[in-house]
Amino acid sequence: MNIADEKRNVYLVGLMGAGKTTIAKVLARRLAYQFVDSDHEIEARTGVSLPTIFEIEGEQGFRKREAQVIADLASLSGRVVATGGGAVLRPENRERLRGSGLVIYLDVPLQTLCERTRHDKNRPLLQVSDPLLKLKELHEQRDPLYRSIADLVVSGSRISAQAVLQLLV
Ligand code: S3P
Repeated sequence: MNIADEKRNVYLVGLMGAGKTTIAKVLARRLAYQFVDSDHEIEARTGVSLPTIFEIEGEQGFRKREAQVIADLASLSGRVVATGGGAVLRPENRERLRGSGLVIYLDVPLQTLCERTRHDKNRPLLQVSDPLLKLKELHEQRDPLYRSIADLVVSGSRISAQAVLQLLV
């Protein structure tokens, strides 16, 4: 039996650059679920880019929108969701993710995350002089939160969708 069958959705959580979107797309195809990226959903709803939302409404404005998207997705089923890296910050989000799906934490070394996100202008939190230090801080704060809701923790610098799938069946 497929353990994903027991829960309504599958959620990928983890820091920026962990590969949530890439892996979620493959999982969705293989499980015949619908792929959703929560950041893309926020952009689709607002009609502007994520950096623009941060610029106009600040991080808290963005978090409010993110919480709404998570609440909406948690009421659905048959989705594989790539969540934003900070989706676990609000307790109500953690409860909703945990209560409505199977949560997979992609735990990737900080150096790898830093290399992958180095040239990305779309991640406002990493537009700082020392992105590695920032990732380190985020990891310290969030790693316990990811673990607190994860059904599965997959660690490594080259996690493949295939490896995750094998853990699901
Ligand atoms: C964020 C991660 C981003 C996006 C926003 C904030 C974070 O998503 O939601 O820039 O707080 O870690 P990804 O993890 O998909 O990059």
